[in-house]
Amino acid sequence: MENPAFIVFEGGEGSGKSTQARALRERLRKVGYKTVLTHEPGGTMLGERLRRWVKWGRDITIPTELLLFLASRSQLTTRVIRPALESGNIVICDRYSASTIAYQGYGRGINLDFLESLNAFVTDGLEPDMVILLDLDAAEGLTRKKRKWDSFEREDFIFHQRIRDGYLEMAAADPERWIVIDGTLPEFPVAERVWERVRDLLIYGKGPSSSLLTRSP
Ligand code: TYD
Repeated sequence: MENPAFIVFEGGEGSGKSTQARALRERLRKVGYKTVLTHEPGGTMLGERLRRWVKWGRDITIPTELLLFLASRSQLTTRVIRPALESGNIVICDRYSASTIAYQGYGRGINLDFLESLNAFVTDGLEPDMVILLDLDAAEGLTRKKRKWDSFEREDFIFHQRIRDGYLEMAAADPERWIVIDGTLPEFPVAERVWERVRDLLIYGKGPSSSLLTRSP
C-alpha cells in the first residue's frame, strides 16, 4: 500500500521510543504498508559517524554539538526521508527536529527561534505529520538506562527536567500534530495507543509533508 506519511517518536532518555518505533513498523508492515524506519542522530553513513562523535566525543562545545546534529539531520532528510516519502513509504523516525529544540534549546539554552530557523534550513521545511511524545519523569527514564551512559545521560537531573518540560510545551502548542502518551505504561498498552492514533492519521488525513515533497533540493 502506498500512503506516504512521516511519523516521529520523541521523548527523553529511557522513554521507550526505539521499542515503540520498531513495534509500529512491524504492525504497519503486517497490514501491507511500505515503511522505512530510521533514527537520529544517524541513519546515513555520515550521520552514524556524527552520532559517535556527539555521544562519546570529549570537550565538544555547545555550538559544535548543535552543528553535528544539524549536519546529521540534513543528510538524513535529503538522502533518506524525502526520497522514501516520494516513493510512497511511511517513514518512522526515532527523533527529529524537536529533539534539537528540546535538548539544545530547553536543555542547553540556545534561542528557540534561532533553532527553528536552522531546523527549517537543514530539512528544507519538511515537518512530520505526527509526533508521538512518550512522556516520562526524567529521573525514572534515566534509571531505566542499563548500559554505559553517554554525554547526555551524564547531564544532571535539572537538564533532563527542562527537556521534559520543553517537550510538553511543544506538544501543548501544536495539539493537532503532537500526541502525548504516558511513557510509564507497559510496552503493549503504549503500542496500542500509538496504533490507534496512527490508524486515524492514515484513514482520515494527511498532514503537511505531502505538500512539501516536490521541494527536494
Ligand atoms: P541515543 O542513544 O539515540 O538516545 P535515545 O535512545 O534516547 O534516542 O542518543 C542520542 C542523544 O542525542 C540523546 O541523548 C538525545 C540527543 N540529541 C540532541 O541532543 N539533539 C538532537 O537534535 C538529537 C537528534 C538528539
